[in-house]
Amino acid sequence: MDSKQFVAGLVEEMQRLFADLGEMETLESESGGQMEIITLLKLAMTSELEASELAAHWLPTTPEHDAKLTLAQQVGDEMRHYHLIGLRLEELGEDLSDFDALAEGYTPLYQYQRSLTTTVERIAGGPFASEAIAEVRNQQFIDYCESLGDSETARLYREVIQPEEVHHHKMGREVLEKHATTPELQQLAGEAMRNTLAIADELRTLFEKTTGLPALPVS
Ligand SMILES: [Fe+2]
Ligand SMILES: [Fe+2]
Repeated sequence: MDSKQFVAGLVEEMQRLFADLGEMETLESESGGQMEIITLLKLAMTSELEASELAAHWLPTTPEHDAKLTLAQQVGDEMRHYHLIGLRLEELGEDLSDFDALAEGYTPLYQYQRSLTTTVERIAGGPFASEAIAEVRNQQFIDYCESLGDSETARLYREVIQPEEVHHHKMGREVLEKHATTPELQQLAGEAMRNTLAIADELRTLFEKTTGLPALPVS
């Protein structure tokens, strides 16, 4: 299959999955407090840090110029998102001097993605799939913040973070369209995308069950 057709198929597959998820989402807050936003923002910092570190880990062993460019862009952007979310938390009154976003270790999603060795798998799982998830989840988070009256956190996501996550997905898509050219590479890319979606969804479900909070924003 032509690589552009192949990638368009992957995008459709993700959109179908996200449409099902959208119907199941409940963004009603049980207690309706800012503590919930603070908890979610701290977890978002973990996601941003993992995304930056993952792209940095892959960078030296990903030879293709365009893939390197995508990863390097992510290293900087995700770290900046981490920083901006921290600033917002401080504005909300949080003291982050002893905060360690990785105190509970890396997530299973990071550990899975870190094991990916080929460029098409890394790009399919990382910028292409994870950033598509980010677009959907962050929009839900923006709506949630607005429903609680936190328009400043909503603005940070809507105007700064979200457009960059969308851009990461777009860059990932272009790299895949260029490099996922054989049936073997397409199979690897498809598996990395599906595993990423499945693990991210498991983590989300577990998070919601244990905390009662709505889906957390991700990088
Ligand atoms: Fe991103
Ligand atoms: Fe990010």
